[in-house]
Amino acid sequence: MALLEVKDLSIHFGGVKAVDSIDFSWDAGKVYSVIGPNGAGKTTLFNMITGLYKPSRGEVYLDGQSMAGKSPHVLAQMGMARTFQNLQIFMNMGALENVMVGAHLRLDRSVMKGLFAWPRLRRADQALREEAADWMDFVGLKSAVSARAHSLPYGALKRLEIARALAMKPRLIFLDEPAAGLNATETEEVVALIRKIADSGMTVVLVEHDMKMVMSLSDRILVMDSGKKLAEGTAVEVRQNPAVIAAYLGGH
Ligand SMILES: Nc1ncnc2c1ncn2[C@@H]1O[C@H](COP(=O)(O)OP(=O)(O)OP(=O)(O)O)[C@@H](O)[C@H]1O
Ligand SMILES: [Mg+2]
Repeated sequence: MALLEVKDLSIHFGGVKAVDSIDFSWDAGKVYSVIGPNGAGKTTLFNMITGLYKPSRGEVYLDGQSMAGKSPHVLAQMGMARTFQNLQIFMNMGALENVMVGAHLRLDRSVMKGLFAWPRLRRADQALREEAADWMDFVGLKSAVSARAHSLPYGALKRLEIARALAMKPRLIFLDEPAAGLNATETEEVVALIRKIADSGMTVVLVEHDMKMVMSLSDRILVMDSGKKLAEGTAVEVRQNPAVIAAYLGGH
């Protein structure tokens, strides 16, 4: 059975069909990319799958189970974590505390209630702290464990957001332009990090404009244009697709 299946997924804002009848069926343990020109509907697709936007039509299935009407919080607990195109970091908190938010979100409500019982709170907090520090190490931010978020450079904040998503121990991680605004060296580091995440068995869904990165990382690529699916296939298939070349790759 597919890990993530999307059927006829659509949303319109007034007259704009931002995502228009998208279908796909994706398996666990692979790297999928969603590409397409600005405004193609990539982020909107992520927003529907992760529960931020309610689809106008269509369905999302995780392990064959309908995700209709589930909140982002519940979907996160069911194994879908994400990062945002525009950083969503709590700048007034510590870097480590930002990652701890991810680990906290993973715990279900009954556990959270239990956490308020002293001294279990102390113990759980310490365990979450250590776990969050391990995720910071995983993304290459070991030296920033005691830093305030606002003191970190942009490239580190992008990786901090990935660490927070990883701390939710998701089955699927959605990365919306993780290399946007990064220099060549930082981009290389993010590519290596995504490989490491994929090697750990997590399913990765990537939205990126950096074609070199997309082509080198992806098992399969979904190409969107004006809300519609233009093509889906391997890097080689997509690169050779005349419709893709005309609508997207040729334009860059
Ligand atoms: N909340 C919203 N209200 C109205 N229109 C929206 C909303 N969210 C997205 N849109 C519109 O939906 C379309 C798709 O936008 P989306 O952000 O998904 O594109 P994208 O493929 O992620 O583009 P980019 O590569 O620039 O990030 C655009 O026309 C956008 O203006
Ligand atoms: Mg976007």
